[in-house]
Amino acid sequence: MNKPIRFPANFLWGTATSAYQVEGAPLADGAGHSIWTRFAATPGRIATGDTGDVACDHYHRWKDDVALMRRLGMKAYRFSISWSRILPRGTGAVNEAGIVFYERLVDELLANGIEPLVTLYHWDLPAALDDRGGWLNPDIATWFADYARVLFERLDGRVRFWTTLNEPWVVTDGGYLHGVLAPGHRNLFEAPIASHNLLRAHGAAVKAYREVGRHRIGLVVNIEPKYPASGDPADLAATRRADAYMNRQYLDPVFHGSYPPELKDIFGEAWPDWPREDFDLIGQELDYIGINYYTRSVCHHDEANWPLKVAAVRQAQATHTETGWEVFPPGLTDTLVAFKERYGDIPVYVMENGSAFYDPPRAEGGRVRDPLRADCLKKHVAALAAAVEQGVDVRGYTVWSLLDNLEWSLGFAKRFGIVHVNFETGERTPKDSALLYANIALTNGACLNDEE
Ligand code: BGC
Repeated sequence: MNKPIRFPANFLWGTATSAYQVEGAPLADGAGHSIWTRFAATPGRIATGDTGDVACDHYHRWKDDVALMRRLGMKAYRFSISWSRILPRGTGAVNEAGIVFYERLVDELLANGIEPLVTLYHWDLPAALDDRGGWLNPDIATWFADYARVLFERLDGRVRFWTTLNEPWVVTDGGYLHGVLAPGHRNLFEAPIASHNLLRAHGAAVKAYREVGRHRIGLVVNIEPKYPASGDPADLAATRRADAYMNRQYLDPVFHGSYPPELKDIFGEAWPDWPREDFDLIGQELDYIGINYYTRSVCHHDEANWPLKVAAVRQAQATHTETGWEVFPPGLTDTLVAFKERYGDIPVYVMENGSAFYDPPRAEGGRVRDPLRADCLKKHVAALAAAVEQGVDVRGYTVWSLLDNLEWSLGFAKRFGIVHVNFETGERTPKDSALLYANIALTNGACLNDEE
C-alpha cells in the first residue's frame, strides 16, 4: 500500500445484522406475520427449505451477543427493527412486548459502550400490510411514518442514528420485479410503483423525525459500480442504464429531485408520470447516507436480458465469493468518491460490506480459519482508507455480518458472519476474520500498515 492507512478519530467500527435474518421467534410475544414468515413457509421460495423461525436465536441470546461485540471491541451495532413486532397488523395497536425487546437491546448496547444504529425497515413488511397492497399502496407512506414515530418517541436519545430503509433497490428488484425475495412478484408495472412508494415512505419518516427526533436520520442504499465491458457505444449505454437503475434510481430523487432519464427507457409504458409534489416529500434533507458495497459489475449490451438489456461479464481471473460476486476492493473507493462527486459532501457510513465464503457447519477446536474472508476484509478496509484519503467524509463502517445468518432465499448455507454460528446448537465462535477486525477497531485501522 502506498499511503499509510489512517482513519479519523472516533471512527465507528461495528457490525451489522437484520431482524429476520438473526432473531428467530418471529411470532413471539404478540408479533404478527411478515412477508418473510409467509415467503419462507411457501415451499420452493427458500432454496434449502430454511426459515427464520430459529435463525441465530438472537431473540433469546441478545445479551450474550452484545457481550461478544464488546469482547471484540466493537463501537457500533447496526440492526433492524421488525415492524410486525411493534405493530402486529402494521398499523393501529402497538405491541408493548415488541418495543421492550428492542429497548432492552438498546440499553444493553449503551451499557457496553456500543452505539446502536437502528434500521426501521430491512425487508420484513407486516403481512397484514401486504394484504392491503404492501409497497404498491400509496398509503404506505403514512403507515411507515406512523410506525417510525412510535419508535422515535420511545427510543430517540438512546438511539442517535436512525435509518429509514435498507436498500430500497433490493426491495423492488427482488420483491416486485424478479420475484426472488418476498413478496415474490414478477411485474414490470409494479416495480416503479413500489420504488416510488418506498421513497415517499422514506421521506414521510424523515419528516416525522424532524418533528420529534433530535439526532440523525439517513437512508441506506446498495451501490454496485458499473464499468463498461468495452468502448462500444452500445456497452457504454448499457452501463449507463445499469447505473441508473441500480445506483441512481433512489439517490437522484433524494438529492436531485428527479429520476434518472434512463428509467423511462428501461420501463417504457410501465413508467408513470409522477406528481411533482412527491419529490418535495422524497427530497427531505438527510444527516448522513449509508452505503452498502459488495461488488462491481462489468456491463455489456444484451438484447435478451429483461428488462435492462444489460448482462454482466464475469471476470475469469478474479476471486468470486460463494454468492458468485467478484471481490473488487477498488470498487469501494470508486463508489465513495463518485458519491461525493455526484451528490455532495454529506457524512457517509459504509453500513454493509462483507463476503460469503465456505466455513464448516461446526467450529472444531474453538477456531474457524477463514483466510479468504479475512483477506477480503483487509483489502476493503484499505480501499475505505483510500476514499478517506481522497476527501470523502466517511465516519463509520459496519461489517456484514456479525453472525452467520439466514441469507434470505439462499438459506443458511451462505455464511457472511465474522462470527461462526453452529445452527444446530446456536454456539458462536469468532472466526479469524473477527479477531483481525477486533484489531482493526482497536488500532483504528493502523494494524494493517504493519502487514504490508
Ligand atoms: C442485505 C443483507 C444481505 C447482504 C448479503 C444486503 O443486500 O442488506 O440483508 O444479507 O446484502 O447478501
